[in-house]
Amino acid sequence: MRNTTRTVETIYPTKERKLFTDRTVELALLERNTEQIIDGFGKNICFIGLRRIGKSLILKEYVSRIDRDKVFAVYMDFERLDTTPEFFAVQYVGQVVRWLRNDENIAPYLDINNLIKIIADVESTAVRDTVHTMFDELDKAKPNQRLLLELAFDFPEKLAKEQDFEIILMLDEFQRIKDIDNFPQIRDTIGLFRSVLQTQSKTHYVVAGSAIRMLEKIFGEADSPLFVQFRVERVAYFEKKASIELAQKITGIENQIALGKIHELSFGHPFYIYSICERMNELGETNSAGVKKAFALETLLRNGSINLMCRYFFESSMSRVRGDALMKTILRVLAKEDGRRLSEIAHSIKRENGVTRNMLERLVDIDLIVKDNNLYYFRDPVFRYWIMNVYEGVEFDSMPGKRVIEDMVRDIEGRFEKASTELGIAKEYELRYGLEKSLDIHLEKYLENGIEFDLVGEKDNIIYIFEIKWRAKETGYKEFEKLSTKVARSEFSEKPKKLIFISRRGFTEQAREYAKNENIVLVTERDIPKIKGLLK
Ligand SMILES: Nc1ncnc2c1ncn2[C@@H]1O[C@H](COP(=O)(O)OP(=O)(O)O)[C@@H](O)[C@H]1O
Ligand SMILES: [Mg+2]
Repeated sequence: MRNTTRTVETIYPTKERKLFTDRTVELALLERNTEQIIDGFGKNICFIGLRRIGKSLILKEYVSRIDRDKVFAVYMDFERLDTTPEFFAVQYVGQVVRWLRNDENIAPYLDINNLIKIIADVESTAVRDTVHTMFDELDKAKPNQRLLLELAFDFPEKLAKEQDFEIILMLDEFQRIKDIDNFPQIRDTIGLFRSVLQTQSKTHYVVAGSAIRMLEKIFGEADSPLFVQFRVERVAYFEKKASIELAQKITGIENQIALGKIHELSFGHPFYIYSICERMNELGETNSAGVKKAFALETLLRNGSINLMCRYFFESSMSRVRGDALMKTILRVLAKEDGRRLSEIAHSIKRENGVTRNMLERLVDIDLIVKDNNLYYFRDPVFRYWIMNVYEGVEFDSMPGKRVIEDMVRDIEGRFEKASTELGIAKEYELRYGLEKSLDIHLEKYLENGIEFDLVGEKDNIIYIFEIKWRAKETGYKEFEKLSTKVARSEFSEKPKKLIFISRRGFTEQAREYAKNENIVLVTERDIPKIKGLLK
């Protein structure tokens, strides 16, 4: 393939490349697709996923690896292009020319007057024709915006035919193309894009974007011009193994418990892993407590990188929708208790179901919330943790004192871990309904004065307190200690009560011993159907 190493280095420096981890499935898919492109039947692909989950890095890693005769790959980020039609058209062409010339600089290719100078030495009629036609059009009193866009979208194919290569365009944050719609001459950029795409045979697309719902609609709804034109792939969280691998590269630590904790708190989100690890390096703390501290600081310190990202995401999302006061109330309600029904949320915010549904749908549309099985959840649990704290006014301008940090860390244990996977959350909810039915008791999540229990109910003057751990590992006695301490500090300390601990994977031997003395009823997944008998 043509040499593009200089341009690659500017978008993806070697230093960053050294940290690249995993994503073997995605890269293999792209690799296979390249073979198929060469054989004449490649597909267009779209990667969708949470912001900073690693979509761009997949595209960049691929571009940096690809080394094929007759294949020319170009990466461009639509976030860096203007979305007025005239500028977009010029810059789109400009980016392809930049890669063709293997140039480190991006700026000269963003402006038509520079571009026209640069191309004087490019040996390509396709390039010169296109740029000159654009230049002439832009010289007119009222340039034809549609024509300019058509020229741009059509250009890669002309180039590919002339140079006799297959061109792969990696278009990052692809959904920004829709911003061009806001101009009177252009109503349907996607439709225009599609009509050009239809005529192309040597131009292939790999696109990516964070606007999950919007992209799902662009590629997945029958009335969208790009319906079934792309194969849509989800970029997911890292598995534990990959999380640990990345964390080790950044911190150099070997402590498996600490490494596991990084995975747990980050959910395997690489950017969160990165932030936690960088902070750990700075703190010089390499144990599990250090991980929690690093996470809390990154999320709650004014200049913490997770905090900055959550704030940016929150503010930019909110600016896209109207009625944000009520939506913020909904977020607060959900931050307190994730996974709730429409009617419950409506009740909490004191609005009709209809109004509430409308608000929730808008929150789903901007990717803050997901709906699953008629329950609403935060899409990103870390973002939920951030919201929870911000609404309580927890944010620090500078490094807090030792005691405050200890409080924050305890906080994480108490409120955050519980939501340890989306699956876990859903399960808790399912359990609640099952328990209510089989025990004939009304159960609620409990959060008062900073004390939280998974489910609490009262029947015949007895308080039932449930703690639920839906995790992959056995529950140890420390969890019981925590529970007992919480109960002792709570309003229930003096009341007749039953403590029930439900653990999916069961309990350690030590835990079973401990529980006997503390009068805690232990329930495993298998025991759930007979729970009534156990509580007798
Ligand atoms: N596969 C990976 N290996 C190592 N770090 C990664 C990986 N994916 C993401 N990261 C980290 O997360 C950050 C955000 O990734 P990026 O690809 O820009 O996310 P997205 O494009 O999905 O918003 C990167 O700068 C890097 O620090
Ligand atoms: Mg990106």
